[in-house]
Amino acid sequence: MGKVYDALRRAEEQRAQRSGEGGNAAATAAVEPTAPVPPVAPGTRDAQPMAPPPSRAGRGIWRRLGLGRKSRVQDTPAEINKRRIALLQPDSFVAEQFRNLRTCIDSIAAGHPEHEIRTIAVTSALRADGKTTTAIGLSAVTAMGVGKRVLLLDTDLREPSIARSLGLRPKVGVAEVLRGDATPEDAVLRVEGTELDVLPVRSVPSNPAELLASTAMRDLLNWAADNYDRVVLDLPPTLGLPDAKAVSELCDGVVFVVRAEETPREDVEAAIEVLDRRRILGLLLNGEQREDPRYEYRA
Ligand SMILES: Nc1ncnc2c1ncn2[C@@H]1O[C@H](COP(=O)(O)OP(=O)(O)OP(=O)(O)O)[C@@H](O)[C@H]1O
Ligand SMILES: [Mg+2]
Repeated sequence: MGKVYDALRRAEEQRAQRSGEGGNAAATAAVEPTAPVPPVAPGTRDAQPMAPPPSRAGRGIWRRLGLGRKSRVQDTPAEINKRRIALLQPDSFVAEQFRNLRTCIDSIAAGHPEHEIRTIAVTSALRADGKTTTAIGLSAVTAMGVGKRVLLLDTDLREPSIARSLGLRPKVGVAEVLRGDATPEDAVLRVEGTELDVLPVRSVPSNPAELLASTAMRDLLNWAADNYDRVVLDLPPTLGLPDAKAVSELCDGVVFVVRAEETPREDVEAAIEVLDRRRILGLLLNGEQREDPRYEYRA
């Protein structure tokens, strides 16, 4: 994982050199392949630390995390369309970056056939780092792969945004499935014009952490892994909440998103420690400004 920090440091150095230069804001893969580890059943692993509060709590970071805040700024249609770009324009630059990420994950999977990579959790340290954007982009380009059945699963039960981002109007969702009020088949929707299936959140439950840590959540992931070649999960932020750690432990690997020039490095480090660094498949620098779209970090 030292390589991840090296990549972050190099990014910081290059940003410093480039300060004042322009560039295209886009999601850019900075993937650090590491040996994936199989998921470990909760309770069988040594006690792990609870997600600590973020390091800059005294400087407004809790506000950025949005804890205790009920609403946030609504996306404009233009912002929503930016997310959809990977779905709608397979030849776009953004789609190309997500294809790079998919290829890196496929390479890791091929290199470690003993550890199947079917369920991939997408999380980050803080709010608004680009988790949902990444989860949508990665699942969209993976679904474009020939013959791959792909499910995008929203596990942000506190502030879900997959349905809104993709213009879906679910009748039931993840919370209803976890409560036993609906089956997964009832809740899965197909994104029009694509091969991508989505299991969105419809209603926000009062007990998200409890539902995500339940046997029902494990059953849902087993169902997803049985029915799809790849399952991409959109998680809440890691710091300050137990949800991301609980869900990521049930997955085969984690894609960790860093918002370029925004996510504090100490929060990245703290979050990676919480998640268990061995689970990190790759790190995605979201919003890094680059002239050359082929440029990326690799181990
Ligand atoms: N590379 C980017 N360039 C410009 N805007 C971006 C980029 N990535 C994400 N955004 C915008 O930033 C906002 C947050 O993105 P997103 O919802 O993907 O983050 P998130 O980590 O899922 O947030 P949350 O923690 O609230 O779930 C959205 O309005 C999104 O459109
Ligand atoms: Mg999100």
